[in-house]
Amino acid sequence: MMMSRKLMLLSAVAFGGIVALSPGAQAREGQDAPATTATTADSRARDLLSHMTLQDKLSMVFTIDGGGTMGNAPIPPGGLGSAAYLKTPAGLPPLQISDAGLGLRNPSHVRPHGQAVGLPSGLATASTWDPDMARQGGAMIGGEAWRQGFNVLLAGGADLTRDPRGGRNFEYAGEDPLLTGRVVGATIAGIQSQHVISTLKHFAMNDLETSRMTMSADIDTEAMRESDLLGFEIAMEVGHPGSVMCSYNRVNDIYACENPYLLTKVLKQDWKYPGFVMSDWGATHSSARSALAGLDQESSGDDADARPFFREILARDVKEGRVPTSRVDDMAQRIVRSMYDVGLVDHPPVMQPLDVVTDTLTAQRDEEEGAVLLKNSGNLLPLSPTAHVAVIGGHADVGVISGGGSSQVDPIGAPAIGVVKGPGKKDWPGDPVYFPSSPYRMMQAEAPSARLTYTSGADIARAADAARRADVAVVFVTQFSYEGMDTANAMTLDGNQDALVAAVARANPRTVVVMETGNPVMMPWLDNVGAVMEAWYPGSGGGAAIARLLYGKVAPSGRLPMTFPASPVQLAHPDIAGVTANSVFEMQFHTDQELVYDEGSEVGYRWFDHTHATPLFAFGHGLTYTTFAHDGLRVAHHGDDVVATFTVRNTGTRVGVDVPQLYVRLPDGGGRRLAGWQRVTLAPGESRELSVVLEPRVLAHFDEKHDRWNMPSGEYRIWLGSSAVDESQQVTFHLAGRNMAP
Ligand code: BGC
Repeated sequence: MMMSRKLMLLSAVAFGGIVALSPGAQAREGQDAPATTATTADSRARDLLSHMTLQDKLSMVFTIDGGGTMGNAPIPPGGLGSAAYLKTPAGLPPLQISDAGLGLRNPSHVRPHGQAVGLPSGLATASTWDPDMARQGGAMIGGEAWRQGFNVLLAGGADLTRDPRGGRNFEYAGEDPLLTGRVVGATIAGIQSQHVISTLKHFAMNDLETSRMTMSADIDTEAMRESDLLGFEIAMEVGHPGSVMCSYNRVNDIYACENPYLLTKVLKQDWKYPGFVMSDWGATHSSARSALAGLDQESSGDDADARPFFREILARDVKEGRVPTSRVDDMAQRIVRSMYDVGLVDHPPVMQPLDVVTDTLTAQRDEEEGAVLLKNSGNLLPLSPTAHVAVIGGHADVGVISGGGSSQVDPIGAPAIGVVKGPGKKDWPGDPVYFPSSPYRMMQAEAPSARLTYTSGADIARAADAARRADVAVVFVTQFSYEGMDTANAMTLDGNQDALVAAVARANPRTVVVMETGNPVMMPWLDNVGAVMEAWYPGSGGGAAIARLLYGKVAPSGRLPMTFPASPVQLAHPDIAGVTANSVFEMQFHTDQELVYDEGSEVGYRWFDHTHATPLFAFGHGLTYTTFAHDGLRVAHHGDDVVATFTVRNTGTRVGVDVPQLYVRLPDGGGRRLAGWQRVTLAPGESRELSVVLEPRVLAHFDEKHDRWNMPSGEYRIWLGSSAVDESQQVTFHLAGRNMAP
C-alpha cells in the first residue's frame, strides 16, 4: 500500500510507541501530537481517518493476544506481554492492553520496573460509598500502568450483584445501580486522568460465572434499564470510558457482543456513547452480525475466539457488501477518537519506577474506608493497646488473601514471601494469592508493648487454648472467590473455619472475627462472638489497614454495598443450577440454560423489601466507634431537582464518619430504592445540615413503549436512615411527575 504524502508526514511527527526516559523525567505536554489543526477528539480522529485506507481502518478493529498470562501465546513484537496488543497504522501509538480490575495485572514482563500495587476488592471500594476514594484508587492504577507502558486498561467492572454467590462480585461494586454507577464511574475517571483508556465491563447481565459463556440472561427490558443497565449508564456519565467490553453471555437469547439492542440502541443511540466496544476474550461469535450490531473491535481474536472474525472474514463481508464501509469508518473513528480523547497520543506513557510507598498508602486508605464493622457488642473494638491478643487463622501472620482470575495482581514481594499454597485449582486460576501485608505483624506494630500470639487454626483445640489464655481473640477467616466459578449454594465458609470460630468463641466470648471474603457468608456463630468486621479482599495495604482499624487509629466507615442474607432460601434464586461441578473451565460452559430473572429490577435489598425478608445484615449497614442521630427530614423541589434536607449529629465521644442514606418508594409500590447519600465526618457533639439531590431515574420507571423515563405523579415515600431497613425518619412527598429522555 502506498502512503499518501500527508499521511507520511503525520506518521513522521506522530509518536508511535512508548517514550523511554531516565527515571523521573516528565513527558512534555503535546510534544508529539500529530500535526493537525483540528481541536476536538472527534475532529482530530476524523482528520486522521480521512487519510487512512480501508485496510488501515480494518487493521484497527482486531487486537492480537498480548502474550500475557492467559494462554500460551508469545509476546508479539512491540508488545509488553499483557492481555492484548494492537500495532496501529498512521503513526498512532500501539495499544498495550492490560487487565487491571484492581491493579495492573501482569507487568512482570516489563523490565526494569515491572510491578504493581493491588487495591482492595471492588466491593471494599464500593463499601466506602466515597467516589473520591474510588477516583484516587483509579488514578493510582492508571498511573502505575502509564509508568509501565500500558495505555488501555480492562478496568471498570460494573455488573450488579444479582446473586451474592457470583464468583466475580468481588471485582464489582455491589447490588445497587446508583452506588455502582457512581463508584465505578469515579474509578474510570481516575484511571483516565492518567491518559490511559479504561474499559467499562462486562456489558451486560454477566452477573454469574456458571455457564457464563453460553447462558442467556432473560429479563424484561424495562426492568433491565432500571437495574443493571442503569448502573452502566451512570458509570458512563461519570467516567466517560474510552471503551466498553461486551460480555460472554447472551441477553434475551442474543450474545451480548452481537446484540443490537444493547450495543446500538441503548449504548450508542440512547446514551450517545462516542467510544468503542471491544469484545471480551472469546466473546465474538460472528463477523457481519457482530459488526452490524455495534461491536467495534474483536479482542485477542487470533487466540481467544473460535475464528478470527474481524480479520479476513470481516474484510470479505465488507468487500461483498454485507457490512457497509461506513460501519468500518465508524469503528475506526470510535477507536481513534477515544485515543485522542483520553490523551494516548498527546501524553504517551513514560517508563519510570513506581512510587510504591505512596501507591500502597492509597490502597491502604481505600481498605481503611471500605472495611465494614458489622457487629461490635459492648464496644469490644477498638482493642486496647495493652490487651493480650490471640490472633488466629487466615494466614494473618503472612498476609491477606486476594480474589483469583484476570483481576489478579501479582503482589510486590511475592513469591519470596506471601504466597500460600492451596486450596486452589490446579488449572485456572491456581492457588489463592496472599499479598505480603500481614495483619498480625501490623497489629504487633500498633501494640508494641502488648503480648500478641499467632496460631494457625489448623489445630482447633490449640487455637481455643490460645484464646482462653488471652484477653481477646481475633480470628481471621478467608474465602477464595475467583473468575469462572460461583461460590457454593450454601454460602458457608470453607474447611474447618466455622468450627474454629465456634470453638474460639466458646473459649473466649471476647472474640473478634475478621472476614476476608469476596461475598457474604453464613455466620452460624454470630450470636456467640463479640465483633465482626468484613474486610473483603484487603489489597496491598491490607495488613496495616486492618490493624489500624482494630486498634482505633482509624474509625471504620464502610457500609455494605450488598445484602448479607440470613439464608440462601431468601434469595430470588435459592440455587445456582450446576454450581456443584468441579472443574472451573467446565463451569463456564456448563449448559446453555436460560436464566430467567423474573425478579426484574427488584435486586438485592429491593428484593428483600419486596418479600419482607429479614437479612442477616442489611444493605447500607455499617457501625463505627461513635454513634449518630438523624432528624428534621424534609423534601423540596428546586426546579426539576428533588432535594432532601436533614441534620446529622455525632452523639458519641469519638470523631467518626456517617453515611446517611435516602431511599424512596414509588407511588405504585415495589421495593424501596437508594436515591442518594452523603458521607460526612463529624467531631463528637458536632451536627451538620445536609442536602442531597435525589437521582431522578431512581424516582422513575423506564417506559419502553414511549422510549423514555417516566416519573409517575403521586405520593412518594422517602426514608432517611443508616441502612435499607432503617425506618426511623420518613416523609411522604407529592411529585407532579414528568418524562425524561432515555
Ligand atoms: C474476562 C475479562 C478480562 C479478559 C482479558 C476475560 O476472561 O472476562 O474481564 O478482561 O478475560 O483477560
